[in-house]
Amino acid sequence: MLDKPNRNFLANNSSPIGNTIAKLIANQPGDYSLQQAFYTSPEIYRFEIDNVLMKHWHCVGHQSQIAEAGQYLVYDIDKESIIVTRAQDGEIYAMSNVCRHRGSRICDGSGKAEGNTLVCPYHAWSYGLDGSLQHARMMPRNFDKASHGLTRLPVRVAQGLILVSLSESPLEIDTAIQTVDGIYGNYDWANAKVIHQNKITFKANWKLALENQVECMHCGPAHPEFSDLHGMGLPNEAQLRQELVERTKALDLNFVCNDLWALNAPEGHEMTFADRVPMKPGVLSATSDGNPVAPIMGNLPAHDGAFSLYYVGPHNHFITYSDYGGMFCYSPKSADETTLTFTWLVRGDAKEGVDYHREKVTWLWDVTSAADKKIVEDNHLGVLSRFYNPGPYALPIEYKTARFTKWYLEAMMRAVETLPAEDAA
Ligand code: FES
Ligand SMILES: [Fe+2]
Repeated sequence: MLDKPNRNFLANNSSPIGNTIAKLIANQPGDYSLQQAFYTSPEIYRFEIDNVLMKHWHCVGHQSQIAEAGQYLVYDIDKESIIVTRAQDGEIYAMSNVCRHRGSRICDGSGKAEGNTLVCPYHAWSYGLDGSLQHARMMPRNFDKASHGLTRLPVRVAQGLILVSLSESPLEIDTAIQTVDGIYGNYDWANAKVIHQNKITFKANWKLALENQVECMHCGPAHPEFSDLHGMGLPNEAQLRQELVERTKALDLNFVCNDLWALNAPEGHEMTFADRVPMKPGVLSATSDGNPVAPIMGNLPAHDGAFSLYYVGPHNHFITYSDYGGMFCYSPKSADETTLTFTWLVRGDAKEGVDYHREKVTWLWDVTSAADKKIVEDNHLGVLSRFYNPGPYALPIEYKTARFTKWYLEAMMRAVETLPAEDAA
C-alpha cells in the first residue's frame, strides 16, 4: 500500500471525482501497476490533465525548427494547441492557438508566417509573431486591440530545446535547465539541427507509454536491434559503467549527472534527470553496424561508446550518442490516446548526403519506436479487460516505472487535497 492518505485528503472528498480518486489511492498496492480506472477513466484523465500536468513543462521542439524569423511550429497536447514563433528580434514566443475573435484555431502545423503575420483563416484577424493583435477586421475604430492579443505562455530555451508551460505559475525550471547544460553542453545541442521527425499515435493511456519509456526490462524481448548495441540491462552493466567513467576522464570531458526526477524533485521544481550509459564494448553509436553515421557532435574529441540521457518533466525524454540524438516528447490526447513525437538531430553544420544519410541515422529509433507502439497498445488492450488487476513491478529493473507511478499517485493525492472548496463541496 501507499503511505496512508492524510485526514484532509480523506475528508476533502465529497466531490465525486475527488472521492473516486481517494478510494483508488487508498487501495493502490505499492510497487504494482495502477488500478484500471487510472488508465481508462475519462474523468480521471480530465482531473490529472487539469490538476497535475498543466503546471509542468513540455518540450515543443528544437530551436533549429524555427531558425528564421517568421517560422512557427504548432504543438498539441490534450485539447490545447500552442503556436511557437521566431520573431524578427530572434526571440521565441509561445502562445495559445485560439483566435481572440471567436476562438478559431489559427495555425495548422508548422510554416512560415507571410509578412511576419499570423492570420486567422476564419475572419482574418491578424497577429504579430509575439501574439499581439495587429488588425481586427471590421471592428470599430476605437476597438481595444491591445487587450485582444493571443494568450502568451511561459517559454524557456535550453540547449536548443523549446520548453513551454500552459500554466501561469509553472514549476521552477532553472535546475532542469542547468541539468541539460551539464550533460548536453558537450554535444552542443544548442547548435544541433533537426533532420527528421515522426509523430506516432499510441492508442494507449499516456501513463502506459511513459511507464514503458522508462524501463528496459522489455528491451530484450521487444527490441533486439537496441539490445545488440546498448550496455543497458546487461549483467556486467556496472563494470561497463565504471569503464565509461574512466574513458570519459581520459577524454578530459565533464558530464554532470543528477537524479531530481519523480519524487526526488524538490517541492515546486520541475523534475529532471541526467545519466551516462555505456554502449556494448566495441559499439560507438546506435546504428546498424555500431559505427557512427554522422559527424561527431559538439566538442567531443572522440566517439566515446556511450549515450547520455536527459529528462525534463514527466513527458520529455532525450537520448544522445556522439553522432546523433533523439527527442521523445509525449503528449496525452485523451484517456486512451497519446502522441509520441520523435525527433532526430545531428550536428548543425552536417550536410545531408555528404556527412550523413538520413535513413542510416533514423534506422534504430524507427524500428524501436514502432515496436514500442505495438507493446504499449497491447498493454492498453489488456488493461481494458475485466480480468485486469494491477501486477507487481520487477525490481530493481523496473524501478523507474515504480518511481513514475509513485510520483503520479502522490501528485494526484496532493491535487485532491488542494481541491478548491467549491469543487470539494
Ligand atoms: S475567429 Fe478568428 S477572425 Fe474570427
Ligand atoms: Fe521500448
